[in-house]
Amino acid sequence: MFKDICEEMFSSKEICSYIYKSFFHKPKNYQISIHDIKNAIYKNRVSYLEKELEPFSFVQDIANFEIINAVKDLYKDKKIIDVCAAPGGKSILLHSYGFEVEAIDKSQRQIDKFIQNINRMKLEIKITNQDFLKSKITDQYNSILLDAPCSALGTYRRNPDVISKIEEKKLKYNQDNQIKMLEKSLKLLKKGGVLIYIVCSFHSFETKGVIDKILQKHKSINIKNIQSDKMIKIKNGYLINPLSFKDQGGSDIFFVTALKKN
Ligand SMILES: C[S@@+](CC[C@H](N)C(=O)[O-])C[C@H]1O[C@@H](n2cnc3c(N)ncnc32)[C@H](O)[C@@H]1O
Repeated sequence: MFKDICEEMFSSKEICSYIYKSFFHKPKNYQISIHDIKNAIYKNRVSYLEKELEPFSFVQDIANFEIINAVKDLYKDKKIIDVCAAPGGKSILLHSYGFEVEAIDKSQRQIDKFIQNINRMKLEIKITNQDFLKSKITDQYNSILLDAPCSALGTYRRNPDVISKIEEKKLKYNQDNQIKMLEKSLKLLKKGGVLIYIVCSFHSFETKGVIDKILQKHKSINIKNIQSDKMIKIKNGYLINPLSFKDQGGSDIFFVTALKKN
């Protein structure tokens, strides 16, 4: 079944065989300085995390950096709401690129980790504990990030058990939930605004399938191009190319799409 999912999404045999081989690869963690993100990601300052954490650094999968680097300039307004924000990886990256981030999440446990991170780095990010689907937010935004809950299939290296949990019923539930979150995000999006949708999955239900349903219903929404040589274009969006970070020990596989409201 996992093989079928890989082959449906990646037409390249090289990529599929890399994915099968990279099972149980112990991922490398990167400690990234928030003061010099570009150099930190791709140049000499990337260091294998062996010692304690530097005060102004934090640890994430390298594909998280790639995604935010690639999409940040699509946002024309630096005031942004991150509606599934904890433990804060993407919010912190956006903040370090000068965004004023309003972060919300429904899990207090995840928010506690987020707060630990920002306290250590002495950052100020407004975080509130709320269920986005039930929240009474009425403000309108030009910039929205939805890093939605999903099967986490794209984290198979770190969590090989995600594969044994793949079930059509659960994927359909995820898809319904992702659509509800996208619908709610679109209600808060101003005309001309940009909503970035991300999932750490490469299952068609949670990626192109979700966006298909949104595009069918919302004729005023179109997909914007994302420039990144670390990603592969698929229907309705982009996937991190698993081979992009092969030499750094591999990465998670994310799907990302940028939706503009006309
Ligand atoms: C993929 S994780 C987000 C990771 C985060 N963006 C980062 O980069 O560190 C998804 C998050 O969505 C949160 N979540 C799930 N359902 C939610 C809801 N209805 N409202 C708000 N947050 C929700 C979960 O608690 C989880 O922290």
